[in-house]
Amino acid sequence: MQKFIIVGNWKMNKSFQEAEEFFLDLVDVLENKELDNIEVVVCPPAVYLEMATDLAACNPFSIGAQNCSQFDDGAYTGEISASMLHSMEMDYCIIGHSERRQYFGETDESVNAKLKKLHENSIVPIVCIGETLTQREKGVTKDVIVKQLSGAFQDVDVNDNVVIAYEPIWAIGTGKTATPEQAQEIHALIRKWIAENYNEDVAKKIHILYGGSMKPENIDDLLIQPDIDGGLIGGAALDIAKFSSMIETAVRL
Ligand code: PGA
Repeated sequence: MQKFIIVGNWKMNKSFQEAEEFFLDLVDVLENKELDNIEVVVCPPAVYLEMATDLAACNPFSIGAQNCSQFDDGAYTGEISASMLHSMEMDYCIIGHSERRQYFGETDESVNAKLKKLHENSIVPIVCIGETLTQREKGVTKDVIVKQLSGAFQDVDVNDNVVIAYEPIWAIGTGKTATPEQAQEIHALIRKWIAENYNEDVAKKIHILYGGSMKPENIDDLLIQPDIDGGLIGGAALDIAKFSSMIETAVRL
């Protein structure tokens, strides 16, 4: 079985002091743990990345950014390029999160452009996809997922250098989690799409994470699904006690 990847997505939360305290607690939590079957990743706000990557350099966790620019460099006020992230030794970068699609105009095309920039800079993209409640109720979830995959992966060579996160939008921050069966169904569809568009070997190796109100109470049932390889966790990842309990569950499974 491949490793679980447990990712904390802090979104726009925590002061610098709170962030530092969390990371120091995380160092304690991970100390002396057998982490052979799990990779722990934290994605703090960009202003804390330097502190985070410094700590990660000598500790068993990885760091990801929450977004990057689709452009190389130049006059793009407020943006952060993939090459800047590379120069800070970033391991991962989330792209296409539904909040960025909803509030900041992210599209399948910009996700595709960002994915390519990340690959040029040897950073593993965590590509987020997922349907709205209306789309689920209309019965078009699978079409939406396939369209998002086709858009994001246009002309992209995939091996094990990509992580996909299935995040049904209706489950994000709402406390409503997809049932393990609902999540498994879409994860299996994503893996099948990868097998058909790349090959079986890539499909086997690729990590497909679930996101959307994942928490200590439901992580077991989700992670035991055959096609769920970890989680992209928002709210519950802000609390070190909850985050460490979820890490412990993954270690045990
Ligand atoms: P949530 O967020 O765990 O708070 O639902 C997940 C995400 O948006 O990545």
